[in-house]
Amino acid sequence: MKTINNVDINNKRVIVRLDLNVPIKNNKILDDTRIKKSLKTLNYIIERASKVIILSHLGRIKTDEDKKNNSLKLVCDYLSTLINTNDEVLDDDLIMFENTRYFDLDNKKESNNDLELAKYFSSFGDIFINDAFGTCHRCNASNVGISNFIPSYNGFLVEEEIENLDRLLNNPERPYVVIMGGKKVSDKIKVIENIIKKCDKLIIGGAMAYTFLKAKGYEIGSSFYEEEYLDFSKNILDKYNNKIVLIKDNYNQNKELIRIEDMKKDDIGYDIGPDTIELYKSELENSKTVFFNGPMGLFEEEYEYGTKELCNILNNINAFILVGGGDTVNAVNKYVPNNSFNISTGGGASLEYLEGKKLPGVFYEEEV
Ligand code: ADP
Ligand code: 3PG
Ligand code: MG
Repeated sequence: MKTINNVDINNKRVIVRLDLNVPIKNNKILDDTRIKKSLKTLNYIIERASKVIILSHLGRIKTDEDKKNNSLKLVCDYLSTLINTNDEVLDDDLIMFENTRYFDLDNKKESNNDLELAKYFSSFGDIFINDAFGTCHRCNASNVGISNFIPSYNGFLVEEEIENLDRLLNNPERPYVVIMGGKKVSDKIKVIENIIKKCDKLIIGGAMAYTFLKAKGYEIGSSFYEEEYLDFSKNILDKYNNKIVLIKDNYNQNKELIRIEDMKKDDIGYDIGPDTIELYKSELENSKTVFFNGPMGLFEEEYEYGTKELCNILNNINAFILVGGGDTVNAVNKYVPNNSFNISTGGGASLEYLEGKKLPGVFYEEEV
């Protein structure tokens, strides 16, 4: 990877693309993880460059109304309280652009990587640093297009995220356990296909488990499942039977604890039960590498037992733990706020990398 360490940025004009796409509600930033994780690269640049130009997107822009609701002003004000700006001169030389996706109102120029727009962005700097890990799976003008015009490198966050993900893909320390949950199998088939070859155990929980249980022939009542993915699930189960750990018991909509083999027509599985947690615990206790993506139940609506217990188990083991996915990260921060997990700032970006795809926003030396 071409990283910021490979280039002299002293007294250069540096354009830095960050992913400051944070959740905002009622004019309040709900989670500032992405902003804080951008500071290492940003401060490094501020200390050295003659001019710093910050780019980021926020939300998705399709209408003028979206434009009004997705200004980076709030993020900009907050960011300015966090950065090292003792240097008064630099104040004039630190610029942040408005939301790069404002340009999407004109023929989706940002999202479609319009090269005229990329050239325009690039004209503000001598060197480009892409540290927007969460956007690395997108090929936009502000994160990839610019690299056609000026020397381009990745920042410290992208470097750290890729190093963490590589620990899941190349020579993971074993035992290596992957925990997949959340709602849909369809969101994660490619990750499952790629990662199951590498891990020792794949724990499947959350609503996703019911598609697999149904594929095995269990009655799953009225639980959520995806008919079109029964064949996929069956194939995975046949091929990797000894690697897959499914659920044994669950809580239904009335919070009654039911064993899977006792599920009735009207039962909807909203959370995993204590026997399942014990089973997971036995798999996780001695593990050395763990990837956790997807909550174990409808934790936002009081069906939080399984997700909370799982977070506590992870918090007490001695392993390299990587957590990815917007909802999963929220859950982890809620139930074990002082954890020392490695938390990915990218949902889609991490999953695509784990699918085995090359991310367009990660810059490599050209192969000769
Ligand atoms: P992430 O954002 O971490 O990748 P997903 O988006 O794949 O996670 O899945 C998260 C969602 O899955 C949560 O909103 C959660 O409520 C839901 N979920 C998990 N288990 C169940 C269940 N048994 N029934 C319904 N929804 C569930
Ligand atoms: C994210 O939040 O996943 C990234 O910022 C990318 O945003 P997008 O899915 O709107 O491209
Ligand atoms: Mg989600």
